[in-house]
Amino acid sequence: MKHAGGLRILVTGRDGQVGRELTHSLAKLGEVTATGRDELDLTSDFEIGDVVHEVRPQLIVNAAAYTAVDKAESEPDFAHRINAEAVATLAAEAKAVGAAMIHYSTDYVFDGSKETPYVESDRAHPLSVYGKSKLDGEKALAVAGIPYLVLRTSWVYGGEGKNFLLTILRLAEERTELRIVNDQIGAPTWSRDIAQATASIAERWRHGKFSAEKSGVYHMTAAGRTSWYGFAEEAVRLRTMSSTAKGTKFARLAPIPSADYPTPAERPKNSQLDCAKLAREFDCRLPDWKISAAAVVRALE
Ligand SMILES: NC(=O)c1ccc[n+]([C@@H]2O[C@H](COP(=O)([O-])OP(=O)(O)OC[C@H]3O[C@@H](n4cnc5c(N)ncnc54)[C@H](OP(=O)(O)O)[C@@H]3O)[C@@H](O)[C@H]2O)c1
Repeated sequence: MKHAGGLRILVTGRDGQVGRELTHSLAKLGEVTATGRDELDLTSDFEIGDVVHEVRPQLIVNAAAYTAVDKAESEPDFAHRINAEAVATLAAEAKAVGAAMIHYSTDYVFDGSKETPYVESDRAHPLSVYGKSKLDGEKALAVAGIPYLVLRTSWVYGGEGKNFLLTILRLAEERTELRIVNDQIGAPTWSRDIAQATASIAERWRHGKFSAEKSGVYHMTAAGRTSWYGFAEEAVRLRTMSSTAKGTKFARLAPIPSADYPTPAERPKNSQLDCAKLAREFDCRLPDWKISAAAVVRALE
């Protein structure tokens, strides 16, 4: 999809949660070329080179990723190919055409053993193949020799796509009881908030001529914190208040420890990311997760 304007921007992952929102929010900055897997498959170095040289972007926003956290445990090479090797290739092509790059990473680069919110300089120590592959992507970008921003976010959801909130709302109508983990703490973050914050950062960074001094890792999540159980409870509470839910019987929610819900990939207990650096450097703060969750559930009516 293309829009007339100033800055030439290439977005990958157009059909993902964040990618589809970026297509709209970045449009005000200039001409956006948003690619899905069909036009740009990140497993193909040839396609990456071809698309970047055709578009000749000044900014690449990489929203494509291998995000199947549990599945990654059984296909580590594939996850690494997309989340790390392709990032290196994209960055090399960005360098060839003089583009800056914005890339997303995850709270899962941390092991969750810290008691307080993680800052960017805390030691990364992923527990999962997915987390490791994303950390390798961050490292690839850091040595690419281009201006870059890595935006680490967490627990992404929205009104479309495959995500926790939509799954819970569906299951809450289908079942009588849902057991949900209550000992992993983090910030559910709306894909639209991420995209809008990305646009505002890109705008500021561009006015600074994509200065390399701003390059580096930034934490970018919603304000506030909760557990998966708390997130589910709030989502169902919001849904019960909607006019289209009258007469619907929702499942009872039961909090459980992670130990009672084993998954192939281990998740950090503490996923909280301190977003002060983003506020300081780009004057950018995301809304509280409850405000955004309410907007998303309301829009589902
Ligand atoms: N989801 C979360 O909870 C979460 C949490 C923290 C950080 N993040 C990070 O945030 C970013 C955006 O995540 P998201 O939630 O928007 O992910 P998403 O909804 O899973 O979207 C990822 C997109 O990447 C595309 N993709 C996968 N493999 C590809 C390939 N080989 N070539 C081209 N495209 C490919 C997918 O294409 P298809 O549609 O064809 O599958 C999909 O559209 C990612 O960097 C992710 O690691 C996400």
